[in-house]
Amino acid sequence: MFLRAPAAARRALSCYQPQCAKAWTGVGPAVTPSDKRDNRMTEEKASAPYGQARPATEVSTRKRMTVPKVRARKGEEPLVMVTAYDATFARLLDEGGADLLLVGDSLGMVVQGNDDTLSVTVDDIVYHCRAVARGTRYAHIVGDMPFLSYNVSPQDAIRNAGRILSEGRAHSVKLEGGRAVVPVIERLVGAGIPVMAHVGLTPQSVHAMGGFRVQGRDQEGAQRILDDAKAVADAGAYALVLEGIPSDLAKRITESIDIPTIGIGAGADCDGQVLVCYDMLGLTPDLRPKFVRRFDELFDRGRAAMEQYVAAVRSGEFPAPEHTFGPAKGPRAVATGS
Ligand code: KIV
Repeated sequence: MFLRAPAAARRALSCYQPQCAKAWTGVGPAVTPSDKRDNRMTEEKASAPYGQARPATEVSTRKRMTVPKVRARKGEEPLVMVTAYDATFARLLDEGGADLLLVGDSLGMVVQGNDDTLSVTVDDIVYHCRAVARGTRYAHIVGDMPFLSYNVSPQDAIRNAGRILSEGRAHSVKLEGGRAVVPVIERLVGAGIPVMAHVGLTPQSVHAMGGFRVQGRDQEGAQRILDDAKAVADAGAYALVLEGIPSDLAKRITESIDIPTIGIGAGADCDGQVLVCYDMLGLTPDLRPKFVRRFDELFDRGRAAMEQYVAAVRSGEFPAPEHTFGPAKGPRAVATGS
């Protein structure tokens, strides 16, 4: 049994990284100095039994999404944001065309299996941001600021947001709240940290809201959310998530502020949309929120694939000869007896 792939195979595995496409095919995006280290693909590495890079099939002209480009999409082509928590999903969603990948504190629910987002830590966000950053070439990466990571003091907020950018390699942070977080947004923006704000249904306030409930349904509540939206835009946020509010309120907010709004359960009149990737791909079998469209049923398909694997192993049909290594060839193998 192999506990660990041999060195040559480990190097070949590292060439699953998207930036290796250029070395493999001679085409692909410009190579930056830090990419060069990983791009030394040789025939020996490529033929390693542990797998090889998939040849790139197209030359991409896509460029990295940035804060100014996000802002420029106000009233233009809708922005597409989706959550991501690891490198493999990040690559899939990035290649699929996402403009922004949000390393959301929803990871507390879909990855960690909790009932809410409250126990997610800054360390968790940093860890998942790093993984997402490794799998992403084009999308702008937003790191969510967890519960109590920005409301204790502005110094604390800057330190935590700074870690999400410097250690996590995210490009901006998101935080929940309206007028109450204006001083924090001003301090972060002043420190060169771009901030995406988030109003309406703010999951970190689940207990104050009495559950995950649509917000702003009465006139007073709607006015409060509108005032919050204007305040965070004035404070310097570059975009605003509108979650769980009536669509007419989302439309009014979108028309009242000059930064893009990105809706989730907020109707079609926002400047963009965001969904949790597990919801959108159908990986959450017990959860069917009204605002989610499932673009696939990956839980059902993955379970069916697992059932086939179980049957194939138990019947002896897998592994077949094509999955099996023959005896070693050559003088070195004879000398080592392997
Ligand atoms: O954490 C998250 O995934 C979010 C989105 C739902 C907007 O905040």
